[in-house]
Amino acid sequence: MKIVLGITGSIAGYKALELIRLLRRQDAEVRVVLTKAALNFVTPLSCQTLSNNPVYIDQFVLDKGIKHLSLADWGDIFVIAPASANIIAKAAQGIADDLLSTALVSSNKPTLFVPAMDTRMWENRIVQSNVEKLKNLGYHFLEPVSGALASGRIGKGRFPEISLIYKKILAIADSYPDLNGMNILITGGRTEEDLDPVRVITNRSSGRMGRELLYAGISRGARVRAIFGRVDINLPGDIDIIRVRKADEMLKHLQQNFEWCDCLIMAAAVGDYRAERISKNKFHNQKLNIKFKKNIDLLKELKKLNKNKILIGFSLESDRGFERSREKLIKKGLSFIVHNPLSVIDKERTEATIIRPGKKPIHIRNTTKWHLANRIYNECLVEIKGQR
Ligand SMILES: Cc1cc2nc3c(=O)[nH]c(=O)nc-3n(C[C@H](O)[C@H](O)[C@H](O)COP(=O)(O)O)c2cc1C
Repeated sequence: MKIVLGITGSIAGYKALELIRLLRRQDAEVRVVLTKAALNFVTPLSCQTLSNNPVYIDQFVLDKGIKHLSLADWGDIFVIAPASANIIAKAAQGIADDLLSTALVSSNKPTLFVPAMDTRMWENRIVQSNVEKLKNLGYHFLEPVSGALASGRIGKGRFPEISLIYKKILAIADSYPDLNGMNILITGGRTEEDLDPVRVITNRSSGRMGRELLYAGISRGARVRAIFGRVDINLPGDIDIIRVRKADEMLKHLQQNFEWCDCLIMAAAVGDYRAERISKNKFHNQKLNIKFKKNIDLLKELKKLNKNKILIGFSLESDRGFERSREKLIKKGLSFIVHNPLSVIDKERTEATIIRPGKKPIHIRNTTKWHLANRIYNECLVEIKGQR
């Protein structure tokens, strides 16, 4: 993938250097365009070294070809990150008074703006109407996140995490349809149940699938609320995630958020069993004799609240796997179930079969959890269309 990365005069400019590194690690080719204001925040030398390509600043240079046109031809996608209020205003008006703005006017390639600015700038009505205008014209935006800003204030305006920007770029490059306006509730990771004050029973789910569902949902424009148990991976720090340990805690938060959602995706590996009795003291017995009982069935409890939500379950099975997953689908009244073999647990790559009542199963082989997450959202869109 060839990316033209425009960096503008924002205090978040230094974070774009990390973005260049990440893109290069993912085998993308990057050419950086700096505005004059950006030179106050990043150096051309850092951008050139990290991108391993020349850096473009001036429009009127004695060089072969016309720079703004050749950049527009070369790139598969334009990414303006961080995008200042100024470049957003210029793009909305078609102003072409420097290399970056002229290249934008000359380009018909997909374009992503990642704004970063102080809350008062971001909330300014003119800035917001420029953003709306560009969105309506088909430009993509990854909105800033809330948090501590360079000004010392707390509010919306922070540059999002670079892994989320990368996922947004992928979603645009793959032309995944938008999930705009959808409220999606997801769970991820694993639950654990206490045995005594220090020991727990749990499983090996890493949280990768849940994290990719979170990234894919946000980058495709849905409102996502996430409830995660324990994980072995880094979860995005800038996104609000409800963290729980036990199945009953997960149920409490699911019940609180269930009415809000259009669609619930249960990617968390919720423990099937818990101890009949939790020992008050740490076990010291030579021989353990713990009795277990079935844990609460979260989906069954949620079904009691509302029968009309789109519910998607996951099923990781070994023996008689496929039939078991199909039984779960029917018993729990799910819209569809994502059946996984045991081999995908804790792995980067995955495979799955999407099983729907009365429909031919869809087999998805040897793919990334990111692509599977997006495939699941595409199937959610099919469900929503079917409900209308
Ligand atoms: C210290 C400092 C930090 C700034 N940070 C931002 C910012 O985060 N976002 C923004 O839109 N403008 C910011 N500005 C203002 C822009 O740099 C200014 O509007 C400039 O004209 C943008 O030009 P450009 O869009 O050509 O890069 C900042 C200015 C200063 C002095």
